[in-house]
Amino acid sequence: MTTPIWAKHAHEPDAAHADAMAFMSRDDVRLDRELFVYDIRATRAHVRGLRAIGLLKPDEADAIDDTLGELDGAFHNGTFILDERFEDGHSAIESYLVERLGDTGKRVHLGRSRNDQVAVALRLYMLDVLDTAKRSLIDAGRAAIGLARRHERTPMPGYTHLQRAVPSTVGLWMGSFAESFADAASLCALTRRWIDACPLGTAAGYGVNLPLARDRVAEDLGFDRLQINPMAAQASRGRVEHQVLAALWQAMQEVRRLAWDLSIFSTQEFGFVTLGPAFVTGSSIMPNKKNPDMAELLRASAAAVGGALAEIQQIVALPSGYHRDLQCTKAPLIRAAGVTLEALRHVPPLIETCTLHTGRMKDAIDRAMLATDRAVRLSTEGVPFRDAYRRAAEEIGDATGTADASGSIDARVSLGGCANLGLDLIEDRLRTI
Ligand code: ARG
Repeated sequence: MTTPIWAKHAHEPDAAHADAMAFMSRDDVRLDRELFVYDIRATRAHVRGLRAIGLLKPDEADAIDDTLGELDGAFHNGTFILDERFEDGHSAIESYLVERLGDTGKRVHLGRSRNDQVAVALRLYMLDVLDTAKRSLIDAGRAAIGLARRHERTPMPGYTHLQRAVPSTVGLWMGSFAESFADAASLCALTRRWIDACPLGTAAGYGVNLPLARDRVAEDLGFDRLQINPMAAQASRGRVEHQVLAALWQAMQEVRRLAWDLSIFSTQEFGFVTLGPAFVTGSSIMPNKKNPDMAELLRASAAAVGGALAEIQQIVALPSGYHRDLQCTKAPLIRAAGVTLEALRHVPPLIETCTLHTGRMKDAIDRAMLATDRAVRLSTEGVPFRDAYRRAAEEIGDATGTADASGSIDARVSLGGCANLGLDLIEDRLRTI
């Protein structure tokens, strides 16, 4: 590793030191690859801020900015590799500048600490994650609306406790995912607003003895507001990450519900759905198998987010001030965000390529499933509901044979019911989140 930026003298780390350093850095520098472009962007804004208050001369600021632009390009095209030579991404930026610009490069860290440097890079990263998740969720909602519209009145059983309950439709089933994905997308948007505050300029957590142009730098980076109090800014580290993952967890619960439904409905026992060929795999031994692996892996992806939430929750229980523990919130955040964004990408094609076996769905609605309608109908004719319930149970509570569910479906006219799904309203929401 190159000499740490915090070393007071040039020194040669001995083996024990190197071993301890490796533990303390762990996978930090590799994780910083995810944050590097944001760190460079925030560093450029910091440099413009220093120039604005006269602490960098225009030619110095320009030279640093040009060199950072060059680093950004080199990182993108792979000629600069962020690896274990550096303690972290922040050190790599400074070394790159010092190597190329000498003393001018050494000026870049004036007025900031790695504590606010990492915090701002993480904020920018999380804002992008939320935006991408939101877009994917809207796409998933649209795919669900599409299937709902194609099968608006196609009957299928509605289940509670996984037991046949009342007649339902594919429109209702898929409309539910459209609305739930809209809810998850709007939670991403709300969370985005909640975290849209700039910690840069809070330094190590106590500010610095400089008139930093904090407002200007925050605006330059596109933030909506500042994190004002430096200690509060530090205290929010990890907790902001937790809230971002909480929003992604909501999204992944919907993915998990969809994955569950599709894996159950594609069993031979149900036979309601055949998944698209790209989303199933075969067995190495059983030639007859078609397994819903994509649905199952999407389901398991939700676990990565739940696990990351728990891990971060354990780490952030800390007193005031920066603690190195906080570094350990990066791995769960980056892993869970990556898993979520990957998973969400596959949801729209998974929905779009499903084949529905409408005959099987229709045949699975038995006459006993009309008992609730019967009880309600009798009540509207004056029988008290509890008596109507008992009469319906006697009449058809155990009835077998396939029912004609169309009357039941057409009668569900209140908003949200099978005959009045409100798909336009849900679509409007998807458009305006
Ligand atoms: N890798 C560190 C982290 O993620 C960067 C900040 C280091 N600050 C420090 N005081 N050691 O927290």
